[in-house]
Amino acid sequence: MQPKGESTVRILAIGDVMGRAGRECLEKALPEAKRQFSPDVIIANGENAAGGFGITEKILLQFLQEQGIHVVTTGNHWADKKEIYGFKKKYSELLVPANMYNVDEAREGFVIKEWQPGYRYAVINLLGRVFMKGENRCPFMALDRILKQIPPAVKVRVVDFHAETSSEKQALAQYAVGRVSLFYGTHTHCPTADERVFGNKTGFVTDLGMTGAYDSVIGIETDHSLRHFLQQDFKKFEPSEKDPWFCFLLADIDRATGYCQHVARYRWKMSDMNLVEAEKGENT
Ligand SMILES: [Fe+2]
Ligand SMILES: [Fe+2]
Repeated sequence: MQPKGESTVRILAIGDVMGRAGRECLEKALPEAKRQFSPDVIIANGENAAGGFGITEKILLQFLQEQGIHVVTTGNHWADKKEIYGFKKKYSELLVPANMYNVDEAREGFVIKEWQPGYRYAVINLLGRVFMKGENRCPFMALDRILKQIPPAVKVRVVDFHAETSSEKQALAQYAVGRVSLFYGTHTHCPTADERVFGNKTGFVTDLGMTGAYDSVIGIETDHSLRHFLQQDFKKFEPSEKDPWFCFLLADIDRATGYCQHVARYRWKMSDMNLVEAEKGENT
C-alpha cells in the first residue's frame, strides 16, 4: 500500500466473517492490519459471524467495541439469529440490505458517520436479486433512492453489495461510478483478484472473500456440505475451522472529492502469520 496522503481517508473493508474461525482471524490479525495501515474506517460484513448464520448482540459488541470496527454490514443471513429483531434498532452501526424483502426499505440500508469530528462518510448495504431467495426489490433503484438521501457534502461513500453473480455486482458498480467512492461485493465467500478503480473515481472488487476457514466449502465443514449435496441432509451444517484466512481490501479516498485514489487487496493466511507463530511459541 502506498503511503497515506494528507487529504486521504483510508477504508479497510472485510467481507463475510464466518463463524468462530472468522472471528478468531479478526482478533489476531486486525490489530496487525491496523498497526501496518492505520485505517480511518473499518467495515466488516457480519451476516455469518454467529455459527455461520446471522449475528448476535454479543458478537456485534465484540466487533464494535473490542475490535474497533465502525460499521457492520450484513446480507441474506441477517436475521438467521432471531434475537437481532430485539437489538437491531439500538445500533445505527449495524446495517441490513435496504432492498431485501424482509426489511423496511424506508429506514434501513445506510448510515452516515464521522471518522473524525467534522468529516463524514456514508456506508450503504444492498442485496443482489440474481440467484437470491425472496422477492427482493431492485438494487439499482434502491441505490438511487439512498444516494438522494445522502447530503452532497458527504463525499466519501462506500457500498457493500451482497450478491451472488459477478455480472450483477459489476453492473451496479458501473452504474454507481462517480457517485460512490468504494463499491465491493460480498456473499460468495470467495475473494476475486480484480480490484481496480473505475474511471479514476470508484474503487471496486467483485468480492472481498470471506474471513474464515478455507479448507471447507465456502466456510462450511466439507463433510457437512457433501452430505447436503449427495443426500439432501441438512442435519449438521456447521462452519469449518480449518485453514483460516483474513481477507481484506484497503482503499484510499480523497476526502475533498470522494474519489478513490488506490485500492489494494490482501489475503493473510493465519498459518503464515508470524503473529500466530509467536503465540504458539509462548504456549510451548
Ligand atoms: Fe455470507
Ligand atoms: Fe450471504
